[in-house]
Amino acid sequence: MKKDLISIKDLTAEEITGIFLLTDKLKKNKNKFAKALKGKTLGLIFQKPSNRTRVSFEVGCFQLGGNSLYLSPGEISLGVRESIADVAMTLSRYIDAIVLRTFEHNNCLEMARAATVPVINGLSDFSHPCQALADLYTVKEKFKSLKNITLSYIGDGNNVCNSLLFICAKLGVNIKVGSPDGYAPAESVLKDAMAFAKISGSTVNLFNNAKEAVKNADVIYTDVWASMGQEEEAKERKKIFGEFQVSSDLVSLANKDALIMHCLPAHRQEEITSEVLDSKNSVVFDQAENRMHVQKAILIKLL
Ligand code: CP
Ligand code: NVA
Repeated sequence: MKKDLISIKDLTAEEITGIFLLTDKLKKNKNKFAKALKGKTLGLIFQKPSNRTRVSFEVGCFQLGGNSLYLSPGEISLGVRESIADVAMTLSRYIDAIVLRTFEHNNCLEMARAATVPVINGLSDFSHPCQALADLYTVKEKFKSLKNITLSYIGDGNNVCNSLLFICAKLGVNIKVGSPDGYAPAESVLKDAMAFAKISGSTVNLFNNAKEAVKNADVIYTDVWASMGQEEEAKERKKIFGEFQVSSDLVSLANKDALIMHCLPAHRQEEITSEVLDSKNSVVFDQAENRMHVQKAILIKLL
């Protein structure tokens, strides 16, 4: 594996499979790895709020025998108090790995370039690789195999959608994206995903209609309409995304017993109804749990 995990694009299909195999072991046998990160410290620099990412990394690191340090926006003031590179070079002298949650994706790249220790992207405006890894691990866990699976992502072509496009295409999972006009993933992301899909033998398709996008889906995935940092657009987006709500009616157009996925936090009754989020085929809390198991595997691989 490369030094850092900034995007799913950095990983080969074999490396992803390797992370999943180690995750299986970690999930089954907690005690066996209790000393894997003994004497190591993980620093978490967060410029946005978090529940899952922060807690799963901190608890996961602790379970592996390591320590973690949460560095809130006010403490580090990334790029304001001192440059990203200076923060990275300083922290590299104290700690063993950095998780960064930030706005511009470029901040992750800059931090990774300057740090001598591994940098893990804990969400940027462009991607959320740890999420996508936990998500596809969850799909594999539920279906036992990723062969002939179609995942439909309904909603904003955002960071989560980008990472799902990359990972599905790398692992041979068909992906259909349904987004309103103007909110589809960037051309360059689709182009990269299509190139990966060509190698794995899967398909990538884009729709501007949710009903078309969920046809033949084994998995229906959605995320908030306004991401962190887009709060001011929330009202306008609510009007634009109305037809893209994951409701029971929409779910009824997919394959029978399609899994329901969401990275969380969910805005209930906006992008997804509570009826669907709490339905028997919803695996959203399994996804949340798997964040920790997968990230423990990532930490072991990188450290
Ligand atoms: N899914 C996810 O990253 O959740 P948090 O924003 O709570 O970390
Ligand atoms: N797209 C969401 C994901 C949160 C985990 C955001 O960036 O806010």
